Amino acid sequence: MFLRGIGVDGFMRVTHEVSFQVKVPGIAPELVRVALTGLGVAPADLVEEESRGAHKISIYFPAALHAENLRRAFIKLKLKGVKVGRRGHRARDWATRWKASWRPFGLTRRIFLIPRFLDDVRCPRGRVPLYLDTTSAFGTGLHETTRFSARLIESLRGSFRTALDIGTGTGILAAVALLSGAEHVEAFDIDGEAVKAAALNLKGNGLRCAVLKACDVKSYHSRRKFDLVAANLITHDLLFFKARIISFLNPGGYLILSGISLKSIPLIRKGFSAPSGLKLIKILRGKEWSAFLFVRRS
Ligand SMILES: C[S@@+](CC[C@H](N)C(=O)[O-])C[C@H]1O[C@@H](n2cnc3c(N)ncnc32)[C@H](O)[C@@H]1O
Repeated sequence: MFLRGIGVDGFMRVTHEVSFQVKVPGIAPELVRVALTGLGVAPADLVEEESRGAHKISIYFPAALHAENLRRAFIKLKLKGVKVGRRGHRARDWATRWKASWRPFGLTRRIFLIPRFLDDVRCPRGRVPLYLDTTSAFGTGLHETTRFSARLIESLRGSFRTALDIGTGTGILAAVALLSGAEHVEAFDIDGEAVKAAALNLKGNGLRCAVLKACDVKSYHSRRKFDLVAANLITHDLLFFKARIISFLNPGGYLILSGISLKSIPLIRKGFSAPSGLKLIKILRGKEWSAFLFVRRS
């Protein structure tokens, strides 16, 4: 297993890329994928890129040791026709040590997340880049709760024009909604610092929320109802603010709830059951967390 941790090389923090380029026609990238997963790499961590007929698979590590271990283990497999490379991406602006474990990755099928300080990393062809930065706001995309929400939003692409992001953090879900075609997105967070981070992130990606402000869910007011509402909050708050959260939805609108530990699934299932006017469409379950997708009955 190649474990992730906070990686610090001396005083210089670097993200380490190990790449596998398939040079010879006939060596299927699938073979490389199978070999890498056999060596303990999670499929979600494989970043793939095709350029001028060559296929490149990269994995990003916070620690040089883990990158080197993988490089050596792969070379030992003696797979012909695969060029193995390693390079470090030096961080430009390390405000905090934890950022050493933040790496570029596919947030959704379409959206490729690149930490702002690693902007020399190229976005794979055919993907849409999302550049993000944060010092304290939640929403790097690494957490299951955010990933699930982002994937559910993207899965509804084309089915919503307006969206509300409750507890926006870095603005990541508002950005995903906009990149998934929403025309009008409103977002708020109780934490003013998070709102500042979200504003910078949206601007940095050429995106714009119609409303972005510091506000508590209990007092947020909008003149409109939304086709999509996403709330990644703690289970207690989801249940406590249930009526308010549902009140933001258009009939036929979609509700994404996240931030729910696996053991809290029955609480949410019961709390947001049929008498709330919602129909449960899907539950995504991860290692520790889950996310729910509902539709409000017309
Ligand atoms: C788990 S984070 C989610 C951030 C981001 N939406 C994501 O999915 O990664 C929850 C966010 O909700 C905000 N929050 C917590 N309670 C809130 C409330 N009562 N009203 C508005 N925002 C709240 C927090 O400040 C935090 O930024």
